[in-house]
Amino acid sequence: MDSTPEAIRQRYEELAAPTLAAPRVALMADYVQHGETTTLEHVAAVSYLSLALVRTLNLTCNERALVRGALLHDYYLYDWHDHQAAPDAWHGFTHPHHALRNAEQDFPDLTNLERDIIAHHMFPLVPSPPRHMEAFVVSLVDKACSTVEVFAKRPWSKKLHGGVAC
Ligand SMILES: [Fe+2]
Ligand SMILES: [Fe+2]
Repeated sequence: MDSTPEAIRQRYEELAAPTLAAPRVALMADYVQHGETTTLEHVAAVSYLSLALVRTLNLTCNERALVRGALLHDYYLYDWHDHQAAPDAWHGFTHPHHALRNAEQDFPDLTNLERDIIAHHMFPLVPSPPRHMEAFVVSLVDKACSTVEVFAKRPWSKKLHGGVAC
């Protein structure tokens, strides 16, 4: 498996493009995830770095599901800082459910592996654990990216996203 930065970037662009072209995916650019990072920048970073991690560790996985599931893991489509806009007061616990509902609406061919990635990325805050390696990877990378976003000002660059989305 080719783990050079150029191979990872090319593979990421190929896998991410169809999801990024879906109309409501762009709405994630309107919402702040952490600090000054938008939700779209966040999910692009999580999906790109998840792919980079499995390639670097030479893990055999479903890269297509990894990238699409990671891009949709926070597809809840509201400003969680706005208590009027958020559907409930328990965003940290319930947003995987809202993200999964939106993903199922917009991507009727969503797979069980992609559902696992979305539904269980907040483990252990949400006590149901990931069932597939890909979902475990996204859960770990999500936590790392979220931590960086809280403490760094706009940490993700175009280069890091493979030039896609942000
Ligand atoms: Fe999340
Ligand atoms: Fe996230």
